[in-house]
This record gives sequence, C-alpha cells and structure tokens, in this order.
Amino acid sequence: MKQLAVFNQKGGVGKTTTALNLGAGLARRGKQVLLIDLDPQAHMTSVLGANPTDVQASMFAFYRDNRALRELEIEWPGIGHLIPAHTELIKVDSLFGKGPNILNRLSQGLTALHEQKKDRVAIIDCCPFLGVLSLNAVFAAECLLVPVASDFLSLRGAQQIEHTLKALEPVLKRRVERRYLMTRFDRRRKMCFEIQARMRELFGNDMCETVISENVAVAEAPAVNKDVFSHAENSRGAQDYAALIDELAGQGIFKLA
Ligand SMILES: Nc1ncnc2c1ncn2[C@@H]1O[C@H](COP(=O)(O)OP(=O)(O)O)[C@@H](O)[C@H]1O
Ligand SMILES: [Mg+2]
Repeated sequence: MKQLAVFNQKGGVGKTTTALNLGAGLARRGKQVLLIDLDPQAHMTSVLGANPTDVQASMFAFYRDNRALRELEIEWPGIGHLIPAHTELIKVDSLFGKGPNILNRLSQGLTALHEQKKDRVAIIDCCPFLGVLSLNAVFAAECLLVPVASDFLSLRGAQQIEHTLKALEPVLKRRVERRYLMTRFDRRRKMCFEIQARMRELFGNDMCETVISENVAVAEAPAVNKDVFSHAENSRGAQDYAALIDELAGQGIFKLA
C-alpha cells in the first residue's frame, strides 16, 4: 500500500482527525508516513503549527508552479512528513478545472515521489467538496477511507459517496477500493447502532468492523498540536485508531513489519 485518501464530501465527519491519527499510529508501528493536506482550510497543517501563509511551500505550489512534491515536504516529528495546504488551494478548480490531465496530476506527482521513497505510506486529507482536489485524491489513492459520523445526515452523505464512486469507476476503469469507517460513535445512543446496522446492509465488506468512539482525547489533541497517541496513549480514541490500523493491516491495505 502506498497511497490512502481520507475522503468524504461532507465536512465535520472526522477526515482530518482520522488522517492524522492513522498517520501517527502507523508511524508508531514503524511505517514511514507522509501526510498530504489537500484541504484549503488547512486544518491538518494547523495541527503541526506550520505557517500556512507560505503559498510557495504548500500543495498550491505543486498545482500552480509544478513544484515537485519532494520539495514541499516538511518534517513532522514523531510522524514523518507533511506537505502543507494553503487557502489558495480553493482556486485550483477555477484555474485548472478544465485542463488536460488535471485529474491525474497528484497521482503522477506521487508516482515520481515514490520512486525515491518506496516504503512510505502517503495519507491524503481531502477537502469537504467534490472538485479537482478530491478527484485528484480519488485518482491517486489505492484505497479510500471514508469516515462517516454516526448520525443520519452523515449516513445520507455516505450513500451519495457510494453513488459518486460507482459513477467514477467506468472512468477509472477499476473498482475504487474503499472502507467506510464509523466515527464519533456513542455507545449510549441507540441511533448509532441503527446507523451501523444500515451501513452494514448498504456497504457489506466495504465497512470497517472497527468504530471510532466519540472521545474527548481525540477532540482535544489537535488543540495542543498533537495526535491522540502522543496526547493520551491509553485513551479509548487511541485504542480505536490502533484497532483500525490492525484491521486494515489484516486486510493487506498496509504492510506492517
Ligand atoms: N472520535 C471523535 N471524538 C470526538 N470528537 C471528534 C472525533 N472525531 C472528530 N472529532 C471532532 O469533530 C470535529 C470535526 O472533525 P474533523 O476531523 O475536523 O472533520 P473533517 O476533517 O471531516 O471536517 C473536530 O472538532 C474534531 O475534533
Ligand atoms: Mg478536515
């Protein structure tokens, strides 16, 4: 496994949280990790505390100036590396939306990058809308991880994603490997179990067995520039993300030492 995109066109479902904690958990299991912030809101970038004002050093420079991805990596102690986002990324659609080959742009950039760092895992944190940026992630990724918050509107959103992916598959000429992941799961709420049952019916084996609980340590960690493992190693949230990594590794999506 080389590239995984954390994808959902709905906001607030746990994409950034999942990308961050998956990356941090994989690093703890000995993987080299590259996080790519592909969201103009630059939330992932702000967790590192990186300066999002430098457009030259962001993913926008990859699209606008053809900068190589390897020139844009900055170190993220304890995790690996990050390629930061910038608010200017919002312009990618209007600037390049009709250009040839734009949908394969990130895929090509990552292929070039992987020639140098073969064993690394790239985790792409997507933005909450379906445009050039998200499609770049879908085209580049070998697997999509789709976090779905445990509420009914998020379930609706997941059904729309399934519809979108089915429409994209003939264009891509392959099945899009995907795993739906329930996030913000509250065991005290009957609704969460109802949504889980419905998702099992809808998505079958494409759904993760692991659920990510609603957990205060998960929510607090970014405020202190941390992932959940370095913030609260024994928290329920850390245990859930560790279980997710085990599950995905068990399915061959990651190879752990
Ligand atoms: N498992 C969780 N438990 C508690 N809060 C969570 C959990 N996952 C995400 N959150 C919180 O929900 C909000 C949205 O999460 P975020 O990862 O930013 O979503 P997205 O990237 O999809 O917009 C954030 O405030 C985050 O801290
Ligand atoms: Mg986000």
